[in-house]
Amino acid sequence: MKYRTFGKLGIQGSAFGLGCMRFNGQASGDSVIDEQKAISLIRRAIDGGVTYLDTAYVYLNKTSEIVLGKALQDGYRDRVTIATKMPIEAVHDRASMEALLEEELKKLQTDHIDFYLMHGINREKWEKFKSIGAREFFNDMKAAGKIRFKCFSFHSSYEDFEYIINDWDWDMVQIQYNFMDINNQAGTKGLELAGSKGIPVVIMEGLLGGKLANAPDNVQALYDAFPVKRTPVEWAFRWLCNHPEVAVVLSGCNEAEQIDENLRIFDSVEPGIMTKEELELIAKVREAYISRTKIGCTGCRYCMPCPNGVDIPGVFAAWNKASLYNADPGSDWDFRMLREHNHGADNCIGCGACEAACPQHLSIIDGLKTAWKELGLA
Ligand SMILES: NC(=O)c1ccc[n+]([C@@H]2O[C@H](COP(=O)([O-])OP(=O)(O)OC[C@H]3O[C@@H](n4cnc5c(N)ncnc54)[C@H](OP(=O)(O)O)[C@@H]3O)[C@@H](O)[C@H]2O)c1
Repeated sequence: MKYRTFGKLGIQGSAFGLGCMRFNGQASGDSVIDEQKAISLIRRAIDGGVTYLDTAYVYLNKTSEIVLGKALQDGYRDRVTIATKMPIEAVHDRASMEALLEEELKKLQTDHIDFYLMHGINREKWEKFKSIGAREFFNDMKAAGKIRFKCFSFHSSYEDFEYIINDWDWDMVQIQYNFMDINNQAGTKGLELAGSKGIPVVIMEGLLGGKLANAPDNVQALYDAFPVKRTPVEWAFRWLCNHPEVAVVLSGCNEAEQIDENLRIFDSVEPGIMTKEELELIAKVREAYISRTKIGCTGCRYCMPCPNGVDIPGVFAAWNKASLYNADPGSDWDFRMLREHNHGADNCIGCGACEAACPQHLSIIDGLKTAWKELGLA
C-alpha cells in the first residue's frame, strides 16, 4: 500500500480508502447489510494496509456507521482514521447537531471522529449550515477533541465549490472526480484550487460508481492496443493517483476480490507516475466514451422550465449516461429521481417552447421520444 500526505495537515494515510456506502444487501436492495460479510471486508482492507474508512450518517438506511463500529472492535479502531458526515436535513440548531454527533460516536463506538464532513453541500446547504452555527459547533468539537478535522463533501458546480472552499478554513474536501469528470462538478479546476490552498482532497466515485470498471467495446479496444496491459479499474485509479493533490481515493468494494485487486493496484501508484503515452491513452479513452453521446445537450437549462414538467436536461443526461457507460437506467440514481418525481419524457406534449429556447438548436421533441424509447420506457 502506498501512503500519501494529507496536504497542510501533514498526516499520512493509505492512498486507497474504503467507502462504506455500498455493501451488498443480505436481502434485496441496499438497505440491509450482510453484517458478517461487511465486517470481514472492512477488516480484510485494514489488514491489507487501508487506514482510511469513509461512512455517513445516512448510508445504508443509517446502518453503515453501526457495522463500521462493530468492524473496528478488537483493536482495529486504533489502526485507522474514520470519516463520517452530518447531513443538513437532520439538523436545525446547536442542540440537534450535538445530538447527531453523539449518536454517530455511539454507533461508531469511538470517542472521536477524525474527519467530520458537512455532507454533500452546495452553496445553499452551506448557507444553511452557517445560519445554524455549524462553524462554531465544528470549531468547538475540534477543541474538545470529538472531531479532528472539519471538512465537506461536494456534488455541485465549480462556482459553488470555489465559493465554499474560500469561505472557511477547511481541513479537507471530498469531491467526485475521475477521468470522465474533469469538467464536471468541482472538476480539475476544483482539485487544483484545493491543492493550491494546501487542502487535501479525498476522491469519491473514482470509478463513477463502478461504471468505469466495465469498458464498452470501443474503449476496451484502446486499452487492448496499448503495449502495457492493465484492467480498466487500474487505469482509472492510476490516473487519479497521478494527481499530487489527491490524498485518498475511495472505493466502495462489495467483494473480497475487489478489495484484493484494489490493494494490489494501490501498491504501486504515486503522483506523477503516468507517462506521456499513458496520459494520451486516457485522453483517447475519454474521447471514445464521449463518442457514444446520444445528444449534445450541454445542460445549460435554457429550455427550462418545461410547461409540462419534463426535466429535459435530466432526461438527456440519463440517456447519454446509459449509452456512454452501458449503464442500466433502472439502477441509476438520477434516472430513478426523474421517474419518481414525474419529470420523464412521457409528459412531453410537443409544444416546442424548449426548441425555440435551445442555444444548441437541438431537436428536443424528437430527442425526448427517442430517449424514452431507447431507455425502454415508451
Ligand atoms: N459524500 C457523498 O456525497 C458521497 C457520494 C458518493 C460516494 N461517497 C463515498 O465515496 C465512496 C466511494 O464512492 P463509490 O463507492 O461510488 O466508488 P467507486 O469506486 O466509483 O465505485 C464503487 C463500485 O466500483 C466497483 N468496483 C470497485 N472496485 C472494483 C474492482 N477492483 N473491480 C471491479 N469493480 C470494482 C464496484 O461496483 P459493483 O458493485 O458494480 O461491483 C463498487 O461498488 C462511497 O463508498 C462513499 O463512502 C460519498
